[in-house]
Amino acid sequence: MTKPYDETTKKHKVIIYGHPTLRKRAEEITIFDDNLREFAREMFATMEEYEGIGLAAPQVDRPIRLLVVGVPDEETEEMFYMAVANPVVKEPAGTYEMEEGCLSIPDIRDTVTRPDSLTMEYDTLEGEHKTIKATGMLARVLQHEIDHLNGILFIDHLSPVRRALLSGKLRRLERGESQEP
Ligand code: CO
Repeated sequence: MTKPYDETTKKHKVIIYGHPTLRKRAEEITIFDDNLREFAREMFATMEEYEGIGLAAPQVDRPIRLLVVGVPDEETEEMFYMAVANPVVKEPAGTYEMEEGCLSIPDIRDTVTRPDSLTMEYDTLEGEHKTIKATGMLARVLQHEIDHLNGILFIDHLSPVRRALLSGKLRRLERGESQEP
């Protein structure tokens, strides 16, 4: 799939753990206009700049229910890009453990258990209502990014023991200090 942006597309700064927008519930999108589509292109460009595979609008300090993903297709290895507005997860099934990280929580990765397949209803950037079934990497990224729209971070899914082990690193992120290697 060709890239949904070009070199001239504006990029945003990703906000880091401790920023209050990351804990807000994002607002429903009701206007599907050129501004929204341009902002989605900027999110794709920002995601690529930070070498992410998913990005939610609150992570660039815009608390609206929009996310983008860019994951390699498991069969063709071609990139699959998708912009999603107002997602709602239906029929989550199974459980699957996978290591996750987050552009807003740099240098921390941990194993998160989530359903491994789901059906998602969403709106396209043109305001068309659609349904998609997702499994594997796509289902994983979608769930992580949808969490962002509800002020939830992947570390919230960890056990109290794991979170306690990360608490020092998280406090340093909150204070804006860089992590030691
Ligand atoms: Co994230």
